Amino acid sequence: MTAKKKSAAKKKPAKKAKAPSHAGFYKEVAAQGWRQTGYMTFSSSYLTLRRWLTAQLPAKKLRILSIGCGSGELEIHLADQSHRVTGIDLSLAMLIRGARKGFARTAQADALALPFGAASFDAVIIPETIGHLPLAEAIAEARRVLKKRGRILITSYGGAVQAHAKFKKYRRFDIADALTDAGFLVDAQHDLTVTSKSVRDAPAERDADIIYVAATRLD
Ligand SMILES: C[S@@+](CC[C@H](N)C(=O)[O-])C[C@H]1O[C@@H](n2cnc3c(N)ncnc32)[C@H](O)[C@@H]1O
Repeated sequence: MTAKKKSAAKKKPAKKAKAPSHAGFYKEVAAQGWRQTGYMTFSSSYLTLRRWLTAQLPAKKLRILSIGCGSGELEIHLADQSHRVTGIDLSLAMLIRGARKGFARTAQADALALPFGAASFDAVIIPETIGHLPLAEAIAEARRVLKKRGRILITSYGGAVQAHAKFKKYRRFDIADALTDAGFLVDAQHDLTVTSKSVRDAPAERDADIIYVAATRLD
């Protein structure tokens, strides 16, 4: 996110500075790193979450597209498990930061106009990015590049987290409903608490760091 846990957010002054533009914000993140901006993402910060997400996918080698891959920490982890991972992001600066870390199978592109043919991928992940996108259009475009029976994994922020002003916090059921409407079978949903020691189910979405929805393309 553009995420801050609520406890951290309390330390901020009440008066907020004007939010920078989307491109400006991610250029700053790419230049300084997440920590220096005062924001973070869970998949870039927590190996536990990278492992948890990887475990939600079949162990066989998959062609995976990551939409809004940012600086590539999750994608490098997935590639280390032998998947063939491609990433797209609107921010060239974030992609360059990712390339320096070793994730270079990327393209600068808009999630709503993916530069890939139909049915190109076995799995699509949208990690901590869906809040920047119109839900139905983003899911329709992800579905187009996903093969039949392909899997889609979406993570976003739960109630324990304050998102950046540019980031819309969809509810878990919004995401699940949009997937169902687009012709997916929703087969897993979780509200998660993420720490450096574990990823575990939160009592409810309002307590969660990360909400997670996974689905299979039906036809
Ligand atoms: C909160 S960051 C998440 C990055 C990474 N997935 C992670 O979890 O660390 C959101 C990313 O989505 C990208 N993004 C926002 N809108 C986009 C769009 N329309 N198309 C592609 N990427 C977009 C941003 O540039 C940014 O890198």
